[in-house]
Amino acid sequence: MMVTGKTKVCGLIGDPVEHSLSPCLQNAAFKHYGLDFIYVAFRVKQENLRDAIQGLRSLGIHGLNVTMPHKINVIQYLDDLDATAKIIGSVNTILNRNGKLIGYTTDGAGALKALRYHGVDPSGKKIVILGAGGASRSVSLTLAKEAKELVILNRTLSKAERLAEELKALYEYGTVIKADELNSQNVKREMADANILINATSIGMRPNDGSTPIDSALLRSDLVVFDLVYEPLETRLLIEAKKRRATTIDGLTMLVFQGAVSFEIWTGRTAPFKVMMKAAYKSIGFNK
Ligand SMILES: NC(=O)c1ccc[n+]([C@@H]2O[C@H](COP(=O)([O-])OP(=O)(O)OC[C@H]3O[C@@H](n4cnc5c(N)ncnc54)[C@H](OP(=O)(O)O)[C@@H]3O)[C@@H](O)[C@H]2O)c1
Repeated sequence: MMVTGKTKVCGLIGDPVEHSLSPCLQNAAFKHYGLDFIYVAFRVKQENLRDAIQGLRSLGIHGLNVTMPHKINVIQYLDDLDATAKIIGSVNTILNRNGKLIGYTTDGAGALKALRYHGVDPSGKKIVILGAGGASRSVSLTLAKEAKELVILNRTLSKAERLAEELKALYEYGTVIKADELNSQNVKREMADANILINATSIGMRPNDGSTPIDSALLRSDLVVFDLVYEPLETRLLIEAKKRRATTIDGLTMLVFQGAVSFEIWTGRTAPFKVMMKAAYKSIGFNK
């Protein structure tokens, strides 16, 4: 990659960012098309967020990904939000369009693309989603448009209920939307006729990779099990689902697809998903 006087800069802000796979997969995509773009990671502490966004304006940085802990706080410094980011109240992508900063959230679109990539069509299906945090909010909003039934189970019941109420109030898709507490009794009842299970909690994430959100006895071969956790790549939930011959989708696939949607926002090109996927796997030591 040749950096020139005209190179457009994209990047990531968060704290920490050192572990991020985004530089690797975005630069692979820029290189694939021979685009004069470069992607770098910036560690930005919470107290410096305002200055960082001012710096983005002053330096004419073209686009950013935003990760923890800035996804919500960054909104106050932007000029506009796309419809989904407005509803979710969270931003993971910024486009600098001629000095106007526009915020987007690409998690939901990334999750839908990951499902479709694996040949899974969520329309007409019953989806059980575990968790009601930022990731669940984005994914639930997107999938509520597609599914026949969406059940949100969360440790903190009030958050699941709030999300379900927001979705019901926003849209009249005809989708049945329910909320309940994440406990073994409710999981067992809802899993009995579920088609797709999505783990949008951080259960199973390193260093707690020995934990899993549901009893393996509830996993079946006709089920799609999608774990948003990508560290480790093969979570205990996915290992147990594979043993039961369920269709499994890992969090890295979604991570790459949400990055692919960011790439498309910044460049206007169709993202080279396979190139990005290969780069992501390679960076964690897998050859795919
Ligand atoms: N693959 C991707 O592209 C992608 C994108 C975004 C996020 N993610 C992953 O998705 C996961 C959630 O991220 P997030 O941004 O939504 O985080 P978040 O906003 O902090 O939400 C965390 C969720 O996990 C639940 N939770 C945490 N610990 C739990 C426990 N011990 N038992 C039961 N529930 C528990 C929380 O329940 P309470 O509400 O009760 O606290 C909440 O629903 C993370 O692992 C993250 O890495 C992946």
